[in-house]
Amino acid sequence: MKIAIIGSGYVGLVSGICFAKLGHEIVCVDKDEKKISSLKSGVIPIFEPGLAELLAEVVQARKISFTTDLRQALQNSAAVFIAVGTPQGEDGSADLSYVLAAAEEIAEICAEQKIPQILIVTKSTVPVGTGAKIKRLVRETAPAVDFLVASNPEFLREGAAIDDFMHPDRIVIGVADEKSRQIFAEIYQKFPTEKLIITDIASAELIKYAANSFLATKIAFINEMADLCEEIGADVKQLARGIGLDSRIGEKFLNPGPGFGGSCFPKDILAILKVAKDSGVKLSLIDQVIASNKNRQLRMVQKISAALGRDVRGKKIALLGLAFKANTDDIRYSPAIAIAKELLKKGAIIRATDPEAIENSRRELSGVEFFSDAYEAAKGSDVVVIATEWQQYRELDLARLGGLVAAKKIVDLRNVLDAKKVDAAGFEYGFIGGK
Ligand code: UDX
Repeated sequence: MKIAIIGSGYVGLVSGICFAKLGHEIVCVDKDEKKISSLKSGVIPIFEPGLAELLAEVVQARKISFTTDLRQALQNSAAVFIAVGTPQGEDGSADLSYVLAAAEEIAEICAEQKIPQILIVTKSTVPVGTGAKIKRLVRETAPAVDFLVASNPEFLREGAAIDDFMHPDRIVIGVADEKSRQIFAEIYQKFPTEKLIITDIASAELIKYAANSFLATKIAFINEMADLCEEIGADVKQLARGIGLDSRIGEKFLNPGPGFGGSCFPKDILAILKVAKDSGVKLSLIDQVIASNKNRQLRMVQKISAALGRDVRGKKIALLGLAFKANTDDIRYSPAIAIAKELLKKGAIIRATDPEAIENSRRELSGVEFFSDAYEAAKGSDVVVIATEWQQYRELDLARLGGLVAAKKIVDLRNVLDAKKVDAAGFEYGFIGGK
């Protein structure tokens, strides 16, 4: 089946390449000529493990193409996925201007090209009611075209996106008619039918927000349990294990850290709050999750300051990790970036490194020196802070590190090191959720 995908970012690109791998004929569309030409030459503008190799494979199989021309992309396409950005608006709501602009352009082209029918799918995370807005807009713009509108939210984690796409826990599909359902059955024919959750559009849109809000709540919960463990002398790793083995809780997403970041959780919890507020519903738990997560970054700064004897002015801090989590170059709402900014304000000297996110961080962090690896960054440092759980930092050569630093102190905000090994190497070790 030929499918057009508008927006070649983290979601559109992964979806397009994976759909192509499944055998569909994919046309990825983006207005950014630079991005399209780099994709045409096989260069992926984002860091996502395995994506470049998969792109080469589907290009070789002639299953995917890239263009800035939506007309050409819509020709003979049974479906068009809208996978453009929905950035956070001033009031916390999702900014739908790119989504609605894409919908209007689809309608105009369908009218002009006399395309009789097409399925418009929102893949981007959009507030409840967006499907209805799109339906009204396209039908007004092109009354003669039979537009089908549906919702197919993604549950892709950056750094694990291909695996999440190919091995989903579930595929959520919000449709309003039988024809749309049939088209989706063909789109996802390679997946077991029991994976498909067919529901109405509004429920599909809300499932995405509810999932991310619940996951954010779970992370905020374990982070606060970590604070409690620190004060009463319990061990949060044991606590996480002890509660996670309860199948009603589950072991995943119970790793305490510096707070959640990324392009989704912080934005989605504000968006669901806005939808609820507009509907007169109070989501008091989500309010608290936002406050808890915001306080967390300040608490991390206090932890680092404490390791330096309270005054960070002029102290050299080796910051290992800038991305909002491991296996991505994405620094959007990254706790590491927020913590670095707070420490800079207090007069600290930041020597930062990250395997993938340095280029993205240069624009965000002025006054910071960047280094190619942990050992370069650690030279002469008064404390080494681990802010992102990259594998490289789990495997740090502590003896080598000890010979480079000015003071043997580590503050591990991701609990990636083994406390016994750190103690044996003669370091003072601060970490999350334990004594
Ligand atoms: C998330 C959802 O997982 C995904 O389903 C959705 O489609 C997009 O948003 P992503 O933002 O890529 O994916 O990151 P995720 O792996 O979910 O982590 C989100 C944040 O929570 C990160 O800052 C991460 O460091 C933090 N986190 C995650 C923890 O602090 N502890 C955990 O145990 C897990």
